[in-house]
Amino acid sequence: MTDAFDTDLFAQRLSNVETSAIRELFKVLGKPGIISFGGGFPDPNSFDVAGVAQAAQQALNDHPVAALQYGATEGYEPLREQLCALMANKDAAVKPDELIVTTGSQQALDLIGKTLINPGDKVIVEGPTFLATIQCFRLYGAELITVPVDDNGVDVEALEALIAQHKPKFVYLIPTYGNPSGATLSLERRKRLLDVAVQTRTLVVEDDPYGDLYFDKAPPPSLLALSATVPGSRNWLVHASSLSKNLSPGLRIGWMVAPKPLLDKAAMCKQFSDANTSSFAQVTAAVYLSSGRLGPALQAMRAIYAKRALCMCDALQRELGDAISFVKPLGGLFVWAKLTGAHGASTDSGALAKRAIEEGVAFVPGAPFFATHPDTTALRLSFASMNEEQIEAGVRKLKKALLG
Ligand SMILES: Cc1ncc(COP(=O)(O)O)c(C=O)c1O
Repeated sequence: MTDAFDTDLFAQRLSNVETSAIRELFKVLGKPGIISFGGGFPDPNSFDVAGVAQAAQQALNDHPVAALQYGATEGYEPLREQLCALMANKDAAVKPDELIVTTGSQQALDLIGKTLINPGDKVIVEGPTFLATIQCFRLYGAELITVPVDDNGVDVEALEALIAQHKPKFVYLIPTYGNPSGATLSLERRKRLLDVAVQTRTLVVEDDPYGDLYFDKAPPPSLLALSATVPGSRNWLVHASSLSKNLSPGLRIGWMVAPKPLLDKAAMCKQFSDANTSSFAQVTAAVYLSSGRLGPALQAMRAIYAKRALCMCDALQRELGDAISFVKPLGGLFVWAKLTGAHGASTDSGALAKRAIEEGVAFVPGAPFFATHPDTTALRLSFASMNEEQIEAGVRKLKKALLG
C-alpha cells in the first residue's frame, strides 16, 4: 500500500526533481487509435530483427561464457573495439581503453552527474535540451543555466559569456540533430566551441545519439572527431553515444569517451551501479557490428526517416500554414515547432496537447525541455514511428485541435 509508506524516508535529493510533467502524456501514447508524434522511439519496423537474431545465436554458439557470465565493468573488449571502428568511420580516433560501455547513453549521463556534480554546482545546458538529462543532473543537485539554441545549434557567443559569468562545472550539449530542437551545430561553431573549452578550461559533454540518422548528407564531424584539430581540446571533452537510435534501444548499449581520470571514476561508479552492462547484449552487439549489417540497415532507416520528415513538414505547412513555424530538420527524429498565434489560434502548446489528444493525436509540449525560461509556444513532433498516411492524418487532427 503506497499510502502507508513514510515519505520522510526519501533522500533529500529527490526534492530537486519533479515527476516529469509529460509522464501523464506518455501514458496515452500507447492507447489504440492514437496517432503518436510523442515518443522519441525509433521506428519498430526498422529493427534488423533477422540480423540481431543471427548475432544473438552466434553469441551463444561461439562465445557462451562471455555472453552469459559477468564481465568487465569497462565493457566487453571486442565490443569496445567495434565501437572504436564505428567512431573511426566518422573520423574520430579512439582507442578501446579510452571508452567504457554503458547501459544506454543514459547511464553515461548519470555517471557524468555522479562523478562531477556537487550540490549547487552550475551546469550549462541548451534551452531546450533532453528532458532526462535535466532531471538526472538536478537529482545530483546541479543548478542548471540555459544557453539559447538557434537554427545553427547552440549560440557559442552566448555560451562564452555564460561560462565567464558562471564558471560552470561543465557544459552539456547535443550538437547533432538535438533532442528536442532538431538543430545541428555548424562546423564553424563546433571549432569555436572547442577553442572556448580549451581557453576557459571548461569541460564539454557531447551527447551524440542521433549523428547517424542524417537524411541527405552527413552532419559536420562530431566534437570528438574535431578535437584532433584543436590542440588540448580532447582533455576538455566527454563524448557519449549509443546504439539505441541506429540499431535498437532494447539492447541498452551506449558508451562514453572521456579523459582517463574521469573514465576511471565513472567505471568505479558503474561497478556499484550495475557491475557491467548486460554481457549477452554486449556480445550480441559486438557480433552484429562485426557482421557488417549496420551500414545497409542504416541506409534503409535514413531513407524512411527522410521521407517521413518531409511528409510531416509538408503536411504542417499545408494544414497549419502560418499558425506554426519550424525549421526543417536535416536528420534525427524530431520537428521542433512553435505556435505563432496567427489567425487568433492558441499559442499555448500545453493546452493544445490536451485538445489534440481528444482529437486522437499526441505530441509533447515544449516547456518541460527547458531547464529555465520555458517556451510555452513550442512543441516536439516525432515523425519516426508513424507511416506517411498516419502522419498526414495526425497533422489534420492537429489542425482541428488548433484551428477548429
Ligand atoms: C539526447 C539523448 N541522449 C541520450 C538518450 C538516451 O538514450 P539511450 O540511453 O537509449 O542510449 C536519448 C534518448 O532518447 C536522447 O535523446
